[in-house]
Amino acid sequence: MESQQKKSQEETTKAKIEEYKEKYQEALIGGGQRRIDAQHDKGKYTARERIQLLLDPETFVETGTFVTHHKNQFGLENKKYLGDGVVTGYGRVDERLVYVYAQDFTIMGGSLGNSHAKKIAHIIDQAMKNGAPVIGFNDSGGARIQEGVDSLAGYGEIFFRNVNASGVIPQISVIVGPSAGGAVYSPALTDFIIMTKETSHMFVTGPSVVKTVTGEDISFEELGGASIHTLKSGVAHFNGNDERDSIQIIRRLLSFLPSNNLELPPVLEPTDDKSRMDEGLNSLIPDDNKLPYDMKKVICSVVDHGDFFEIHEKWAKNVVIGFARLNGYPIGIVANQPPVLAGALDSEGSIKASKFVRLCDSFNIPIITFVDVPGFLPGVDQEWKGIIRNGAKLLYAYCEATVPKIAVVTRKAFGGAYIVMASKHLGTDVNFAWPTAEIAVMGSEAAVNIIFSKQLSKAKDPIKEQQKIEAEYREKFYTPYEAASYGYIDEIISPEETRPKLIEALWPLLTKRELRIGKKHGNIPL
Ligand code: HXC
Repeated sequence: MESQQKKSQEETTKAKIEEYKEKYQEALIGGGQRRIDAQHDKGKYTARERIQLLLDPETFVETGTFVTHHKNQFGLENKKYLGDGVVTGYGRVDERLVYVYAQDFTIMGGSLGNSHAKKIAHIIDQAMKNGAPVIGFNDSGGARIQEGVDSLAGYGEIFFRNVNASGVIPQISVIVGPSAGGAVYSPALTDFIIMTKETSHMFVTGPSVVKTVTGEDISFEELGGASIHTLKSGVAHFNGNDERDSIQIIRRLLSFLPSNNLELPPVLEPTDDKSRMDEGLNSLIPDDNKLPYDMKKVICSVVDHGDFFEIHEKWAKNVVIGFARLNGYPIGIVANQPPVLAGALDSEGSIKASKFVRLCDSFNIPIITFVDVPGFLPGVDQEWKGIIRNGAKLLYAYCEATVPKIAVVTRKAFGGAYIVMASKHLGTDVNFAWPTAEIAVMGSEAAVNIIFSKQLSKAKDPIKEQQKIEAEYREKFYTPYEAASYGYIDEIISPEETRPKLIEALWPLLTKRELRIGKKHGNIPL
């Protein structure tokens, strides 16, 4: 009798375990093999495949596998899938903890219902509590239409968490399919957006709505493809050639970022000579100060192994930003790029640099600025685009940043742009200048025209007179010595020794602590 009871208990348990295994298999297959095949046919991976590709092998721990929606309207009662269209959990990247979610397009087009949203919200909550980055794969038809306002509520819950997590943990969004309507605002609130070539699209309203409202005829790709958002709008930071490439970009980004704002960024054992000089830099600056040169050559010469990870490579190219290492320590680089708009600051370049400066400051990454700036870009277009407001963003960001700040003026540092580009006056810790630096209120031609206009109009040979005064002006102001005499430049260095000088300057700053007056938050000119 007893053994019969035991046997029947064992059978019940076995059946329950079988049921669990079946359900688990059902969850793994998402929206079914037919839809998985369709996903593959489009050149896309499934949500689980993406997570496997991102994480170190066998480190993924899934959460919320058995979550479903609880709606019974508009046919949803017949569309109940385990997981509710998003795979969530945690794992490791290069052995460090990360939280991850991946929308599963095979389940109702990855559309976001309230349970789906709660899974993502839970992941962000866990990441915040445990101080780890969140990576989100976005592949979704947007708000799940059948759930009405409850799906909108779900988005709101996610946005709220994205904002709370901003500056506390790194948040990276990868767009690997559609991201449309208000749904785009979750990626937009995160630190980085990576879009995958051809298979990803982001827009607030799609081509058909655009056609109805404005009459414009435009394709998905032209309206919101990866190339548009990395080239024109600046919405996306990176354009992955395919999903694997996009995933490599995530891993590379994480290699420079701390897990949270209380940690230091990941330092590597130095493997490049810290005393390495580069004589080539001594002849990089052309004799004619109107001629360009490639600032990326300076950057790559100076950083460890010439390894510069550029961000926003194709947008606002007059300003260059990205990560690198100096003697193993992660740094953020901001630089003017003379071949594009002569390296002048325009609205887009200022916005690009200011967001990056704030990111570095949030995550304890020192900022190295290379300066060759003739000023703010003049023109009606720039004034109307709000260069005043946008230039102020960069000024604000540099002033606000308390991480170690070092600047190197390679050539021009003129006018307001001199002040903005990490001048001493904004709390920069060490300001270097090359002997080729020209630190002045403005260029010689404009300056002489303003100050000596009367004298020039009376001169026998105004052109010769102008040339003579301009030469005097250049001799006096087109040098770093005037600024150095006031202590606004700490040291004039030979171009070849820039790397060792930066490394020497950086190490004492690694223990820098600068406290500012407590406040709720500032009011950055948005
Ligand atoms: C419910 C959806 C859905 C949605 C797609 N599906 N989008 N279900 N809500 N928003 C379902 C489809 O019914 C289909 O189900 C499956 O997902 C795959 O969709 P297809 O259309 O067959 O795929 P495809 O041809 O690849 O087209 C993908 C798509 C298209 C471009 C995303 O589905 C589409 O345009 N969807 C609507 C997009 C949209 O307007 N969303 C609302 C945006 S407004 P079956 O069962 O056939 O597999 C919004 C507001 C957010 O998001 C506001 C936040 C603040």
